[in-house]
Amino acid sequence: MRGGLPFASGKQPSPAPVSVFKKVLLADIANSIPVGAMVFEKSLNILLLGSGGREHALLQACLASPLTAAVAVAPGNGGMETEAPCHPLNLEDIPATVALAQKLAANFVIVGPEVPLALGVADALRAAGIPVYGPGRDGAQLEASKNHTKAFLARHNIPTACGARFTDTAAAHAYLATRPLPIVIKADGLAAGKGVVIAKTADEARQAVGDMLDKRVFGASGAEILIEDFMDGEEASIMLMVCGRRYVMLPPSQDHKRVGDGDTGPNTGGMGAYAPADVVTPEVRQRVVEEIIEPTLNGLADEGVDYRGTLYIGIMVTAEGPKVVEFNVRFGDPECQVLLPLLETDPVQLMLDCATGALEPASVRLKTGACVIITLAAAGYPNTVRKGDTITLPETLPSGTQILHSGTVRRAGQLLTNGGRVLGAVARGATLAEAVKAAYALADKIHFAGIHYRRDIAARQLLRK
Ligand code: GLY
Repeated sequence: MRGGLPFASGKQPSPAPVSVFKKVLLADIANSIPVGAMVFEKSLNILLLGSGGREHALLQACLASPLTAAVAVAPGNGGMETEAPCHPLNLEDIPATVALAQKLAANFVIVGPEVPLALGVADALRAAGIPVYGPGRDGAQLEASKNHTKAFLARHNIPTACGARFTDTAAAHAYLATRPLPIVIKADGLAAGKGVVIAKTADEARQAVGDMLDKRVFGASGAEILIEDFMDGEEASIMLMVCGRRYVMLPPSQDHKRVGDGDTGPNTGGMGAYAPADVVTPEVRQRVVEEIIEPTLNGLADEGVDYRGTLYIGIMVTAEGPKVVEFNVRFGDPECQVLLPLLETDPVQLMLDCATGALEPASVRLKTGACVIITLAAAGYPNTVRKGDTITLPETLPSGTQILHSGTVRRAGQLLTNGGRVLGAVARGATLAEAVKAAYALADKIHFAGIHYRRDIAARQLLRK
């Protein structure tokens, strides 16, 4: 629709003439588009914000959507830049983000990571008349402040661990003395996936409190802390695409946070994931809907938060039932990479519908089967990461598989490692076992010095069968 703009063309499944695709209610967000405007095939100029594997998966969805006329990314990575124009951008610079969206004449923005959401990028874009997939600053508080979330959960009677907030070390130590071990100490603010310590001994717990409150090892994020009882059980990720009180629940998934097989070694950003995760049985799912999702979305709406975007609910399936571990206000990474391939309905249509108020959950269709991602990590990860190793990829990909880039860069025509989580090997299969086999066959064809990855992604579920 806006020829000549620096966007990549969307790959269209058919050359059919432009047709009316869907009627949506746009006026409440996009001042420039009247209520009841028609959204046409190839009508979206999308700006996608982010640079990780999650955003590469979102880019692939944009490129495959019949709604996409063009898509640009900011800032992107070494894999994304071969598929779409990538624009340099500091995602914490909200005025610069709005200016870029306007310069590109974007009429839909998808926000990948949490930091710009917490800084109010969705509010600023909406104020400029651009529909956005991602909550405003008020909704993003669910991830930006663990103490805000704890208070929200308490107000709405939503099951979670017992906990208390502290800014004073002596008071935190006194509280620790009254609680059982292990115990969880969390920095209140955003800490890039760090900022959570599970202390097994009283000394470890006191040390973690001191590190956060006194030494500020997580900076201002640790000026306030949350001390929570440890929840025993199995974790799962519940990803919702939310439009106020309406939502689509994607298949439950499971991340693998520890670096080593058998859940050993330090925590990472995520070494692999699979979906659907059977730990969320139909009974657990029903309880999640009734005891967690409905009170959360009604609570947000009742408190005046108009939430439009992903709500990621980390749950612990305990002996007493599912409980909230955390909320995130964006897709999980690497969970997103295994959820988008399981959607039969166009993910871009769904994100647009959430953004514009037109979501019709009953019309959403999922694919059968399972999907797996194996994270391929760089030398040193998750500690000091070596960058600059040359990456070799297979020339062809078997059908149902994808290689998604996270920490890569292209220099002088060479693809190099540029972060801890470098690539994701993704495969969809009729069964989980088939998907796992295909994902590992793909991972084994990817090479760079220092590559390491877990060999047991999804093993817990496969062994349960
Ligand atoms: N997979 C964990 C996260 O995205 O926070």
